[in-house]
This record gives sequence, C-alpha cells and structure tokens, in this order.
Amino acid sequence: MHPQGVCSLANRRPAGGPARLAAVYNPPMVITPAISADRVRSMAADFDLRALPADFYANPYPVYALLRETEPVKRMPDGSFFLTRHADLASVYRDAATFSSDKKVEFGPKYGAGSALFEHHTSSLVFNDPPLHTRVRTLIMGALTRRAIADMEPGLVTLVDSLLDKIEARGGADLIEDFASAIPVEIIGNLLGVPHADRGPLRHWSLAILGALEPRLTPEQEALGHRSVTEMLAYLGDLVRHRRAHPGDPDHDVLTRLIQGEVAGQRLSEVELLQNCIFILNAGHETTTNLIGNALVALQEWPAAKADLLSKMERSAQDPRGLEANLDLAVDEFLRFESSNQLGNRRALKACTVGGVDLPEGALVTLCIGAANRDPAVFADPDRLDLQRAGNRHLAFGFGIHQCAGLSLARLEGRIAIGRFLARFPGYRLSASPTRGGRARFRGFLQAPFSTT
Ligand code: HEM
Repeated sequence: MHPQGVCSLANRRPAGGPARLAAVYNPPMVITPAISADRVRSMAADFDLRALPADFYANPYPVYALLRETEPVKRMPDGSFFLTRHADLASVYRDAATFSSDKKVEFGPKYGAGSALFEHHTSSLVFNDPPLHTRVRTLIMGALTRRAIADMEPGLVTLVDSLLDKIEARGGADLIEDFASAIPVEIIGNLLGVPHADRGPLRHWSLAILGALEPRLTPEQEALGHRSVTEMLAYLGDLVRHRRAHPGDPDHDVLTRLIQGEVAGQRLSEVELLQNCIFILNAGHETTTNLIGNALVALQEWPAAKADLLSKMERSAQDPRGLEANLDLAVDEFLRFESSNQLGNRRALKACTVGGVDLPEGALVTLCIGAANRDPAVFADPDRLDLQRAGNRHLAFGFGIHQCAGLSLARLEGRIAIGRFLARFPGYRLSASPTRGGRARFRGFLQAPFSTT
C-alpha cells in the first residue's frame, strides 16, 4: 500500500480525526422502505423486467427473495429466463461454451443493425465470446498491471483529499455529484490519459451509453445513446491519433499499451481499439460511483455497522495492514449488499438445463447479481450489512472469463474514497432523502445531499 494511502489517515487530521471516530452514532434513517407481503407476491407473480413498477426500484430485494424461493429460474413474458440463485448464476458464468456473451442477435432489433449503439456494444469485449474476447482482454489485462494500479494510488489520495477539503469548507455537499462521481471520472481519465480539460462530457456520455442497456428505453434515451457513442468516438479518434504520434511509456500508459500491444502478432484494429476504450471509460464510471455512493448512503441506514467500522478504523489507525484489511472487508460487503451492477445477460448456444429447468437453444438468460448476492444458501443473514463478513463470495464483479477486468482498481477506489471520507466526516448525515437512479441494471443514487456533522 502506498505510504499516502488510507493507512495514513490518522496522521493527516489530528483534530477531529480517528481519535473521535468511534464516538459517532447517528440514529438510523429509513432509505429502503419495507414492502407488504401482498405487494411482494403480486410484483413477483407479474415479474417482467420490461415493466417494473416504481416501488420495485426502492427495494427490489423482497421480490428477488420470493423469486429465488419459489421460481429461481423464472420465465418472463418475453420468453427469456430470470435467474436468482447464486449456484445457478455461478454455473452459467462458468460455462462460457454454452452461454454466450455475444449480443448481436439481441442488439440488432434493439438498436438497429449498423447503428452507433449497435456498433459500440457489439464490438466491446464484454459482449463478445472468444476468440475476439480473449484477444482484447489479454491486452487490457496486460495494461491494467498491479504496477499501473499501484501507480494510481498517490493521485487518488490527493484527489479524494482535495474533494474532502472543498466539502469541509462548505460544511456539506452532494454525496454523488460532489464526491462519488468525481472520483472515477478522474481516475479513468488518468488511466487513458484524457487531458483534464476534456473530461467534462465523460460522465454524461457514460450514463447515456450504459443507460441504453436498460431493458426498456424511451426514444429520447435511445437517441441520446446513439449521439453519445458518435461524439465519444470522434473524441477518442483524436486522442488516439495524438497518442500514436506521441506515444507514452507502455509500462505506465494504458492507452499506449493498448495501441502497441500485440497478441499472437496481432494488434487491435482501429475500431476495436476505439470501441473498447469507450467501454473501459464507461465500465469504470457509473459502477464505481455507485459503489462509493451506495456505501455511504447504506451506512446511514446501518448506524451500528458504521460505528463498528469507525471503531475498527480507530483501533487499526497505526497499523496500516490492519486498517486496509478492515476496509477491504467492508468494501466487499458494500459490493455484495447493494451491487452497483445488478444484472448480467447470456444466450444459450444449445439446449441445456439450469437449476432443473430445461432451456431451449437460443434462450435469453438474465443473471440477477443483486438476488444471488442475497442468497441465504451462501450468505448467512443475507439482508444484514455485515462489514466483517468473511469469505464473501459475492458476484458483484461477475465470475468466469468475463469477470471484471477493473476489480482491483474499483476496490482501491472504494477503499480510499470510503475510508478517507469516514475518517474526515465520521458524523456525516444525509440532509434530505436521497434520489435513486431508478434503473434495474445499475443501482445507485443520482443525488444524496449531506452535512458533514
Ligand atoms: C464497483 C465497480 C465495478 C463493478 C461492480 C463492475 C462490475 C462488472 C461486472 C459484473 C462485469 C462482468 C460482466 C459480464 O460478465 O457480463 C464487469 C466486466 C468488466 N469490467 Fe467492471 N465493474 C466495476 C469497475 C470497473 C472498472 C474500474 C473498470 C476499468 C478499469 C472495469 C472494467 C471492466 C471490463 C473491461 C470488463 C469486461 C471484462 C470481460 O468481458 O472480460 N470495471 N465489471
């Protein structure tokens, strides 16, 4: 761990720092409403990802729990299957030869073959099978080395502290706008060497392009998605041209490595390069924003867990490894408890059986990560936020050949952001109810105003 990392938080602010952390206990705030048993039954019976009722988004977990108990491989009105058991998700993730990630069949009718969103989503590694997937992933993993990620830590600490300084001066801010979303945009921007002045539109492009993956889209959302891909391609085309002319050090510069890297003597084509740069920029964006935002909102609902974490941070403040280990456990529990990416998709290339249900060739399958991560067969007391949970086998980063390529970076961002925020503002409080993003796939908040004390 870098000397400036979370372990040094005790030294940075002697007054108001960790010496007082454990003393802070705020009463719980209800953010996730309870839902009546009747309402849960009716939502589960009519479950259809394309027509989710408004109250589902506030708390989808009771519906997921009932589906998991009664119809773990649920056939939806469009003929696709919705999976909620951890074991069933793991078996699908494991079997990439049967369950394809290639989305050309689904995205043709959804976006129009040849459209900007179609070309983007069907060229990115996450929506492809081997051999294209293997080639792109090998290059990305070669670029996201331990060293490249460790190199990012000092800049991350400086960035987080500068955001906290600004928030402290104002006595409060918006958790999402002013903190959670400001971190990944800079980190991913640094990863690909996007100049600071150019970073303004990145978040909106990312929200529009990934938002277009939602099960149902309005014509306006779709048009915005197409426009965002076109604008982002034009921007990255210029960036790549510049980097080809002025290459960086491939040991440190991820974009140079993606441009120059070869697998079996083959480089990425221009289209593969640009579309996968868009994907990397987007993949690390909203997901990480939501990890940080969901964690800091959840702690308001779970004050005892917060007080316990603060007291552990206080006790391990002079023990960098202990502090890091406590925060790492907490970050993985936040990822399990409120997974920022709740849904994944696969298509069966041949007839097969999952969870005792026969699926025909071509069956479309939705993997509900949010439900699997609350499966009592794997997690004791799954609806409790337990920041000391050991052996946490959550699926928040997926599993198998497509498992998140940025998971180490995401965990690092989570640990530094959440750890330093709590050390600085142990008594923070939401000053109004937070506003949910209202999306089934990417779970998070749009706004969460708070005061620092
Ligand atoms: C909390 C933050 C994050 C979460 C919850 C998350 C979640 C996921 C999930 C569930 C997948 C698997 C998709 C599938 O199997 O269909 C995935 C893939 C991926 N993620 Fe992440 N991600 C996060 C952060 C990041 C970051 C920071 C980066 C970039 C540096 C990144 C880059 C990728 C890439 C490149 C893939 C595709 C891997 C492949 O197809 O082989 N992710 N992510």
